[in-house]
Amino acid sequence: MAVCELRYLGDGVLRQRTEPVERFDAGLGTLLDDLVETMYENAGVGLAAPQVGDTRRATVVDVSEARDGTEVLELVNPVVVSKSGTVDSEEGCLSIPGVVETIERSAEIEVEYQDRHGEPHRVFGVDLLSRVLQHELDHLDGILFIDHLGTLRRDLAVREFKSAMAEKGLPVGPG
Ligand code: NI
Repeated sequence: MAVCELRYLGDGVLRQRTEPVERFDAGLGTLLDDLVETMYENAGVGLAAPQVGDTRRATVVDVSEARDGTEVLELVNPVVVSKSGTVDSEEGCLSIPGVVETIERSAEIEVEYQDRHGEPHRVFGVDLLSRVLQHELDHLDGILFIDHLGTLRRDLAVREFKSAMAEKGLPVGPG
């Protein structure tokens, strides 16, 4: 396993639509292992393949207290089965450091997905799990959480992101 370099807002890979996984091979296992390790290293609750520069349709989520890999969800080719209700809550993203904004999401969500072996599963999420699933599935379609903001708040968020990146000494891409 390896901790991967994170990709940040402005990196074109974050705007690509991911490609469905057809080969459930060792390479997919490595990607999922790397996503989990990179998520834990950065204290995140979810991480999607584009955030480490990979365009496969895969993401990992862990909203547990343990955060030791025993309760991590590895979602390959996830599809939303149903959503209901709406709820506002604060959200951030490892690819957009320095930005926390209140975003409206569905309150409950049901998602079908495959595991690393191609076996089908279904997960029902409420509260934080529902929010993280929606956030990560957005990543797989090239959508970032600041896209859900109005123009003014979005512009402010981009400015906050740029100053956070400058503080970290990291370069900002053109997007
Ligand atoms: Ni994110």
